[in-house]
Amino acid sequence: MYFVANWKMFGNLKSINTLDKVIKFSKSKEIKKGRLIYCPPNTLIGSFYKKFQNCLIDIGAQNCHESDHYGSHTGFVNSKMLKSVGANYVILGHSENRKKGENDKLINLKIKSAINAKLKVIFCIGETLSEKKKSKTKSILSKQINVGLNKIKKKSNIFIAYEPVWSIGTGKIPKNKDLEKIVQFIKSKFKGKSPKILYGGSVNPQNINDLKKINNLDGFLIGGASQNAKKFIDIVKKTYS
Ligand code: PGA
Repeated sequence: MYFVANWKMFGNLKSINTLDKVIKFSKSKEIKKGRLIYCPPNTLIGSFYKKFQNCLIDIGAQNCHESDHYGSHTGFVNSKMLKSVGANYVILGHSENRKKGENDKLINLKIKSAINAKLKVIFCIGETLSEKKKSKTKSILSKQINVGLNKIKKKSNIFIAYEPVWSIGTGKIPKNKDLEKIVQFIKSKFKGKSPKILYGGSVNPQNINDLKKINNLDGFLIGGASQNAKKFIDIVKKTYS
């Protein structure tokens, strides 16, 4: 199982000290088969990379520019640049960036550039509350997948993170039976082997006991709770207990 920590726009150099506990945990037997991936803001990727030198915790970024080349794009970084400072993953299509205007076509270009740079992609999809109420969840997910992954043949480096927008940061999570159906639905969109599927949205040490029962889920994308080392470790421990 994969446990991806999405730190969003939080953290500074002092936060690095909070990683000691997680590093210790990652070297213990308690981690079982859990794989930890930290996605801090870009300002901390290099420092996290150094900090994780002697352990198996991996690092990702939270977005990238769609261009493979260096260029005059003030304020942006591309996937090559992220790779060069130690990132192996990148989160793309997060609803917080979709809200800022990223559409499926742009996300598709970003995914292609990330794959070219040999980054693994955590591709976020999910419906809003009003789309859910109008029973549009499946059509929204289909469009996000079809356009987002258009002309991408090799999907072995892609993880799909199902993150219902109404669940992010709200404490609300889907019912297990609904989530199971959606995981099944996402898998059915792929001929042959489906990408790994993660769930994200308000995952915490309490609700993990329910969420871990979902069949065919390969892990979790964790926002708020991942900034607290104890909570993050608890989520992993409880998944395997
Ligand atoms: P949350 O965020 O766990 O704080 O709901 C998840 C995410 O946005 O990836």
